[in-house]
Amino acid sequence: MSGEEAWSPRLAPRALGDSGPYVSELCIGTSPLGGMPAIYGYDVEAETAIATVEYAIEAPSITFLDTSNNYGSGESERRIGEAIRRVGGLPKGFVVATKADPAPGDREFSGARVLESFAESLDRLGLERVPVFYLHDPEAFDFDDLIAPGGPVDAMRELKRRGSVDVIGVAGGELDAMRRYVDTGAFDILLNHNQYTLLDRSADQLIDHAVGSGLAYVNAAPYASGLLAKPWVDRPRYQYREPSSDVLARTRRLQDVCASFDVPLAAAALQFSTRDPRVTSTVVGVSSPARVEQLVYNAATHIPSELWREIQEIKE
Ligand SMILES: NC(=O)c1ccc[n+]([C@@H]2O[C@H](COP(=O)([O-])OP(=O)(O)OC[C@H]3O[C@@H](n4cnc5c(N)ncnc54)[C@H](OP(=O)(O)O)[C@@H]3O)[C@@H](O)[C@H]2O)c1
Repeated sequence: MSGEEAWSPRLAPRALGDSGPYVSELCIGTSPLGGMPAIYGYDVEAETAIATVEYAIEAPSITFLDTSNNYGSGESERRIGEAIRRVGGLPKGFVVATKADPAPGDREFSGARVLESFAESLDRLGLERVPVFYLHDPEAFDFDDLIAPGGPVDAMRELKRRGSVDVIGVAGGELDAMRRYVDTGAFDILLNHNQYTLLDRSADQLIDHAVGSGLAYVNAAPYASGLLAKPWVDRPRYQYREPSSDVLARTRRLQDVCASFDVPLAAAALQFSTRDPRVTSTVVGVSSPARVEQLVYNAATHIPSELWREIQEIKE
């Protein structure tokens, strides 16, 4: 991605793939809402989580929410289901995405498990169907097993063929593994996380490859799980681990250059993703209604092109 044309935040929803639903550039990530203290270093109360989802569903500029069968061992989906009930059902055009996961502790991931995971998710969410369904973190399993006839990838295709979902995607981290799943031609969407941010752009070529292969690209974790948004007193994590001194030093430089333009680092970190025309939607983890408000504010904050030029100077 070269040149620093002044991009304005995109407000028009974009299609997820040729036949996909239209979604907002901002997507609410709900893994923190499932209560995952081991991942984020803190827990989230059920009522706070439910109120956060209600707030997001009613926020006019947000029409997309991301969850998964295994977030908080299903608690994220259950809390989303309760919020949907409390707001009287999903508004027209609001898109919920969830993901197929193996059974807790299971070292197998079969086609039958994908269908079972899907049914569990619909039951928890209280929905008849979901427009977007991903195969979650397949890199933990053998590629040949997952693409074998009757395996998980076939089960994903089957759900689409039946019309139980509109589009299917693959969601994971390991770049080479994601490229192999993109090359199966089975998927409409690629979701990758933590590797297209102000601190790590290692997914850049994979994004070109996926979009060039006709997939929609969804970019998750623009705050690198917290460091690019949270005050340091909160001991934020980087890619779910303690940040190294080198990462802290580069984050400090990013903070300083943003401060010199009176721009929150979180706004620059978010718009680094939303301003990229290859990114259909950006998934941000939140744990309170106030965070949803800040998300909309950060997406609309004006960022001068001089700041983008200076940010470009801070190399990986
Ligand atoms: N394999 C996969 O499919 C995969 C992997 C990773 C992520 N994802 C999806 O992407 C979502 C985003 O990833 P993530 O949540 O891990 O990382 P992230 O979006 O980079 O960062 C989330 C963290 O940033 C903090 N934050 C958010 N807004 C903030 C603000 N305005 N000021 C200060 N701190 C702020 C949140 O803190 P608070 O909790 O205090 O709000 C949370 O700890 C996930 O929730 C999930 O839906 C999918």
